[in-house]
Amino acid sequence: MTDLEQLVAQATAEFAGIADAAALEQAKARYLGKSGTVTELLKGLGRLAPEERKLAGATINGAKERIETALSTRREALRQAALEAQLRAEALDVTLPGRGLPTGGLHPVTRTLERIEALFRSIGFDVADGPEIEDDFHNFTALNTPENHPARSMHDTFYLENAPGLLLRTHTSPIQVRYMETHKPPIRIIAPGRVYRVDSDATHSPMFHQVEGLWIDEDVSFADLKGVFTDFLRNFFEKPELRTRFRPSFFPFTEPSAEIDMSCVFCDGNGCRVCSHTGWLEIAGSGMVHPNVLKAVGIDSEKYIGFAFGMGPDRLTMLRYGVNDLRLFFDGDLRFLSQFK
Ligand code: PHE
Repeated sequence: MTDLEQLVAQATAEFAGIADAAALEQAKARYLGKSGTVTELLKGLGRLAPEERKLAGATINGAKERIETALSTRREALRQAALEAQLRAEALDVTLPGRGLPTGGLHPVTRTLERIEALFRSIGFDVADGPEIEDDFHNFTALNTPENHPARSMHDTFYLENAPGLLLRTHTSPIQVRYMETHKPPIRIIAPGRVYRVDSDATHSPMFHQVEGLWIDEDVSFADLKGVFTDFLRNFFEKPELRTRFRPSFFPFTEPSAEIDMSCVFCDGNGCRVCSHTGWLEIAGSGMVHPNVLKAVGIDSEKYIGFAFGMGPDRLTMLRYGVNDLRLFFDGDLRFLSQFK
């Protein structure tokens, strides 16, 4: 083997043993760099006689080319190996099932409110809205409950500090007052919303919901109240056989007033633990709108008459879904809420 052949074999073997790109470039310099072995040999050509120079030059260049080929072969092999290592490290199994987006759901009380609104809309009621921070006039005075009236103590009111006359509404009746101030009869609305009272236990929350209804026209009667409300309950609970009874009661803003009971939706009125074995559940307050309320909002109480009712959608939700603690609705615990998705 000539010296040159040996040189080519040595370079090829050396390159093949290198696994690192930077080290490979250093090895290249030793053969092909400015003072590398091959370069030195080419420099030596000048000392040869012209006849010998041609042959020797061709031989050295031939060896140089083979070393360059060995170098680029090794470069390519290292590049491929690096690429494969990267692909292995970043492997992605596109056949795995996706993580998916968790679906949300409506709060059970929101479902109830939407259901109540849909049922009343279907018989021509509008849905009215109003502020949760109310003034004394709309929450009490206009509702025939003047200052120092004993009925005010029926509501444990949250008053606002540093804002005389302002309070958190204790019922959604002020929505109806505001609606009557700005609309002429006939009026047919329901008034859903949050209300606030100083109260907290398994069946009372300081914040809860109410839906009140109001129908004012020239000849609305107590019979209409019975029909509308009984029909609503039958549709809401999907129980055509559901019965109601109206018990005399007192509210300052209605006269006469009545508590509405319905036959227990768990035992169909036969008596069970939910209805304390009476067969009946208290479900709403109601009555014929007091003339003083109509006067307070500028409606002719000689010409117009109507009924109002107020119920608790939180309680309706508990009865519909069989929930026994009101506080579950307002804790925000997903283990509870996700059951309603
Ligand atoms: N606003 C009454 C309350 O919250 C409920 C009610 C409304 C009673 C309408 C009768 C008529 O106590």
